Amino acid sequence: MDLGISGKTAIVTGAGRGIGLAITQALAAEGVRVVGAARTITPELEKAAAATVSVDLSTRDGATRVVGEAIDAVGGIDFLVNNVGAGDPDALSLGGFLDVDDDQWQAVFDLNLFSAVWTTRAALPSILERRGAIVNISSINARVPAGSPVGYAEAKAALNQLSKRLSEELAPRGVRVNTVSPGFVSSPLWTDPNGFGGKVADAYGVSHSDLLANIPGQFGLASGRVTTPEEVADLVTFLLSERAANIHGADHVIDGGTLKAG
Ligand SMILES: NC(=O)c1ccc[n+]([C@@H]2O[C@H](COP(=O)([O-])OP(=O)(O)OC[C@H]3O[C@@H](n4cnc5c(N)ncnc54)[C@H](OP(=O)(O)O)[C@@H]3O)[C@@H](O)[C@H]2O)c1
Repeated sequence: MDLGISGKTAIVTGAGRGIGLAITQALAAEGVRVVGAARTITPELEKAAAATVSVDLSTRDGATRVVGEAIDAVGGIDFLVNNVGAGDPDALSLGGFLDVDDDQWQAVFDLNLFSAVWTTRAALPSILERRGAIVNISSINARVPAGSPVGYAEAKAALNQLSKRLSEELAPRGVRVNTVSPGFVSSPLWTDPNGFGGKVADAYGVSHSDLLANIPGQFGLASGRVTTPEEVADLVTFLLSERAANIHGADHVIDGGTLKAG
């Protein structure tokens, strides 16, 4: 299938590892020149991206700067993938509503919602000019908050609504906006023992490897396995492509059958 995106340009946020890195690699394999942004520029990102920006995307200045540097590097923006999200494990409480103060709410909303607001505001003039497309990486937690850190599900639900708003406004002007909502994905977020997955294992009092092995059964993944970052990346690449030309304002779940409601 010819995706028709060779020669286009993209910004991918949170591109150093995990889902963002897989999206960068998938787009690059289709001939897209990707500007990848994260605080840490990994060798894998360096290899796949046309340019990289080391930046804290949870700040307005950082998120805005990425777009300026990307336009300087590749000349204009066709695609924006707002992938950065979740949060630093050390800063995320797994406690209940009363355990969490405003600092966590603010940090989670800055990274999971406002980062996308800021990059989109800065990139939109170029995307409009090129009649491009935006994909925002949300989560099934936007629909089912259970088990997620306080504030995360709420920020992702707001991200879904932002995507819908943008789609309504921009579709008549030739720009497509969609969300992709993964369930459990085998990114470092879960697989790194020092990451969020390790923290959850500690909280449950189980080993990290047991936690990972039990996720499909415990959370009812109908397929029996978690999703790979590459599978999420394939979906994002399709949604950005010419083949998805009339897909607007939709939330695309990829969760191995975790969500049970129709
Ligand atoms: N993994 C899952 O099961 C899952 C499920 C549903 C939705 N999601 C969503 O998918 C997206 C990607 O998650 P992932 O699993 O790929 O995460 P990950 O493996 O932890 O990777 C996160 C990437 O974002 C970068 N990043 C984090 N905070 C940043 C900041 N403040 N500024 C700039 N870059 C930052 C990280 O690099 P640095 O730390 O070096 O900056 C890294 O490159 C997130 O929006 C997440 O909510 C994930």
